[in-house]
Amino acid sequence: MIEKEQIIHAYNYRHACKEFDQNRKIREDDMQFLLETARLTPTSFGMEQHRLLHIKDEKLKARLKPACWDQKQITTCSDLIAIKAVTEKVKPGSEYVKSMFGRRGLPEDATQAYLQRYENFLSDKDIECWAQKQCYITLGNMMSAAAMIGIDSCAIEGFETQKVEEILRIDTTKERIAVIVAFGFRINEPGKKYRLDMDELVEVL
Ligand SMILES: Cc1cc2nc3c(=O)[nH]c(=O)nc-3n(C[C@H](O)[C@H](O)[C@H](O)COP(=O)(O)O)c2cc1C
Repeated sequence: MIEKEQIIHAYNYRHACKEFDQNRKIREDDMQFLLETARLTPTSFGMEQHRLLHIKDEKLKARLKPACWDQKQITTCSDLIAIKAVTEKVKPGSEYVKSMFGRRGLPEDATQAYLQRYENFLSDKDIECWAQKQCYITLGNMMSAAAMIGIDSCAIEGFETQKVEEILRIDTTKERIAVIVAFGFRINEPGKKYRLDMDELVEVL
């Protein structure tokens, strides 16, 4: 296991990098490592509501930038990831849902019980919102893992969803772009970190 101090060091090292060094690219094996942390991310009911678009094409990044509040991270980063939320497939009763429960190899009655519980659980939920929440877990995992191997990142929510989805040719009846994340190497040192004190953050009951 990793030492606690090393993990906290990485969490302090991570910051919202506003501009990346365009001369430094993330190694392929490091990128595969980050993608693996996404793949291993837990999701509610194990439904894997997230999908990743790994955007390497510089021309595509340049097209996205104006739709992302013109933020420099989009074009200066080494690798850009748009995290999509799967919204259609995860609806109760779909073949996808059946296959995701079915792959566990449980007895038929246990699978049926899961399917029923899933349907009940989602009956009063906004599926799109629920699916997007899972994408943020992926985001957090990837950014923390990146920091642990000295890679910088910036989560990006500052974008015009409709424009970004048009550029990325998303069928919005099936998927939505939840959040974007840029990875690369810092060009400037980060500013001060502002955080609540522990007693403001945590209430002990
Ligand atoms: C979901 C999410 C979306 C964010 N979107 C943006 C963004 O569009 N542009 C940006 O510069 N920073 C963005 N940030 C960075 C936050 O502003 C930043 O994490 C926060 O101010 C704390 O600073 P630190 O990450 O440097 O510690 C985002 C962060 C999160 C978690």
